[in-house]
Amino acid sequence: MIVARATPGDVDTIMRWRGQRVAWLGSMGEDQWSIPLPRWAVAATVLAGQTWMVRHDDAPIGTITLSAYTGLDEMWKPDVDPEALWYPEDYPGDAIYAAKIIVPFEHAGSDLGAEMLDWAGGRSFVAGLTWLRLDAWTTNTRLHDYYRRLGFTHVRTIASRVSGACFQRPSQPYVGRLKTEE
Ligand SMILES: CC(C)(COP(=O)(O)OP(=O)(O)OC[C@H]1O[C@@H](n2cnc3c(N)ncnc32)[C@H](O)[C@@H]1OP(=O)(O)O)[C@@H](O)C(=O)NCCC(=O)NCCS
Repeated sequence: MIVARATPGDVDTIMRWRGQRVAWLGSMGEDQWSIPLPRWAVAATVLAGQTWMVRHDDAPIGTITLSAYTGLDEMWKPDVDPEALWYPEDYPGDAIYAAKIIVPFEHAGSDLGAEMLDWAGGRSFVAGLTWLRLDAWTTNTRLHDYYRRLGFTHVRTIASRVSGACFQRPSQPYVGRLKTEE
């Protein structure tokens, strides 16, 4: 399995997978991702080189978006944003942030989500950063349990935000089965 940066041609695939997952979440009574994510928001992270696709035999089977902290100027100014997910004492710059992780139904159930997170932690480790972090949908406690099972620790929840449950796990070397194509 190869993991490589998404291209503009992957945006529609990601939007389709997301739509399917939103319907699934709704059927479970979860309102996660009920606020539509515009296509351009996905296209923008693809353009920025932050979105990755896992492929098997050239077919896409999963996606994850990784970013570095972009608010370095603010991190020494607490109170700047009362809804900030990460606080100065968390050293927000010392992490890679994972988001928009999706495995489509036809490939779910083989722990590819966990594998992509391990891989992301490896990228954080190689970059010399201490943490792999993410924010999960505030009300989706089943999703929180999933991250806890993968070794993430809950840091805080910013209840006024829809995706305000902050989780982190120490970065560590990646020894898994995804081969990175830079
Ligand atoms: C999270 C995800 C990438 C994991 O893919 P995977 O490794 O193939 O694992 P599975 O799909 O089998 O999910 C593992 C378990 O977590 C549960 N789970 C996954 N996402 C969930 C969610 N958003 N809400 C509630 N439960 C969820 C699954 O139902 C499954 O539970 P089970 O073990 O009782 O069957 C995939 O389930 C997915 O795309 N979920 C929806 C999108 C999402 O919530 N992404 C994370 C948001 S940042």
